[in-house]
Amino acid sequence: MKRPSVHDCQLLGLPRIYDRGGNITPLHGGGELPFDIKRVYYLYDVQGGESRGGHAHKNLQQLIVAATGSFDLVLFDGKEKKTIQMNRPYQGVFIKPGIWRTLENFSSGSICLVLASDFYDETDYIRDYDDYLKYIDRL
Ligand code: TYD
Repeated sequence: MKRPSVHDCQLLGLPRIYDRGGNITPLHGGGELPFDIKRVYYLYDVQGGESRGGHAHKNLQQLIVAATGSFDLVLFDGKEKKTIQMNRPYQGVFIKPGIWRTLENFSSGSICLVLASDFYDETDYIRDYDDYLKYIDRL
């Protein structure tokens, strides 16, 4: 695997259909997303100001969306750090494998929607920061 960079993780505009007074954002595996969607999960009831995440994945690809409310997506590639403010349901960030991510400053009532390329697999996680630094330096 090529060493990932936070510069590859951009805020992407997602399709938005205005329909009968509301908006719809449809997402298709292999379409807007460069992977087939195997799992969807969402994070909610996070206390205002709380943080989540704090890990990297070896193979998992994800698209992260602030479906409601806001939070900061803090990305690190072993060298550079980048913070993206997420607060629009029609924007998403594609996260490549090997990026350390933390979700910070949740607004109360916010919902973080995650579309993932694979099923949940604990062995795909790198949860220890020092392990991550060693892992990323070997790429
Ligand atoms: P984790 O991905 O560490 O959450 P966060 O990044 O928000 O801190 O997941 C927290 C726990 O939830 C983990 O111990 C296992 C469980 N979990 C599943 O069982 N399936 C899933 O798809 C996810 C994302 C988590």
